[in-house]
Amino acid sequence: MWQQAIEDAVRKTRQNIEQFGLRFPHITTENRYDWGENNDWIEGFYTGMIWLCYEYTGDAFFKETGLKHLDSYRERLSAKRELDHHDIGFLYLPSALAAWIVSGSDKGRQLALDAADHLMMRWRPDGGFLQAWGPAGHPENGGRIIIDCMMNIPLLYWAYEQSGNEAYREAAICHADKSRRYLMRGDDSTYHTFYFDPESGKPIRGGTHQGFHDGSTWTRGQAWAIYGFALSYRYTGNKPYLETAKRAARFFIAHLPEDEVAYWDFDVPAQPGTPRDSSASAIATCGLLEIISHLREGDDEKQTFKNAVEGTMSSLVKHYATIGKPDEEGLLQHGSYYVRGGLGPDDYMIWGDYYYLEALLRMTSNIPGYWYERVREQAR
Ligand code: GLY
Repeated sequence: MWQQAIEDAVRKTRQNIEQFGLRFPHITTENRYDWGENNDWIEGFYTGMIWLCYEYTGDAFFKETGLKHLDSYRERLSAKRELDHHDIGFLYLPSALAAWIVSGSDKGRQLALDAADHLMMRWRPDGGFLQAWGPAGHPENGGRIIIDCMMNIPLLYWAYEQSGNEAYREAAICHADKSRRYLMRGDDSTYHTFYFDPESGKPIRGGTHQGFHDGSTWTRGQAWAIYGFALSYRYTGNKPYLETAKRAARFFIAHLPEDEVAYWDFDVPAQPGTPRDSSASAIATCGLLEIISHLREGDDEKQTFKNAVEGTMSSLVKHYATIGKPDEEGLLQHGSYYVRGGLGPDDYMIWGDYYYLEALLRMTSNIPGYWYERVREQAR
């Protein structure tokens, strides 16, 4: 079943490249991607899929396409186009770092290092965090962090390893510690966002942007927490990060509906027509696989997490994937972007497609995605 799903993903990715050239898929509500420029926070996932396909097939077509994409990311960084936000890791890890990991591209490595410098522009030393959105001092967003950023800080850990510059690592650790303390709640759920006083760093309150309400648990945020804290553990060896990832994972698993694919928010009333977020389940699965990679045989929870991976992935492949629909552009149906805002409430999400394929490859081979360099794995 997994092999069939991977083959289908590779075939559709090839078809998309053949049809849409070097354009990038954007969020839509029509079950068709809107193909356009490199100007959103999501392009890296598509380039990452291309690298995954190259690693799986060894077909130079994918490698050449992945390398061609680098020019677009370089031009965007030079122009600083639509980059006044923290999603620099989402953009530059599965594109630039991937090119370096997979093909040894020096252009990719330098681009990833330059992107890390750009992400450091979000660092607010007075508050001790990376500001998520908008310019410094912005009245609403100047003191705001969001859980998603846990997936962006691997770029800083990696830049520290490459350069030896402690500033990257210190910012990443400080941000992770703040996220752990203020975004994680006592019942193992998460706030999507948290507000601090931008000058003093004094904590003010939790809130949401894409969730059901300020105190709810936005499903994708919970998934970012699982994977993000597990990656912080990988880079730092700091045990509380692994414990935090496990806590977030327990909450996620315990609140799944019968088919083991999450609704868009854990607090939204589940009734006929309530949108799912298949992308969150794909991300959480990759996070579980990352946690599992750090657990010893005999660890009580290892089997529980493996069962959750198996259950969710079976459900995604059987009931959410577009296997058997050869003309579809997306891989995973019933993702959601921003339900309350009416944006992509039930559609393909390119990050859902990416993490679904990453999960399939993590389960069946030694291709773990592009959030860290693999030499680290071999060195252990
Ligand atoms: N990082 C934005 C989102 O997950 O929708």
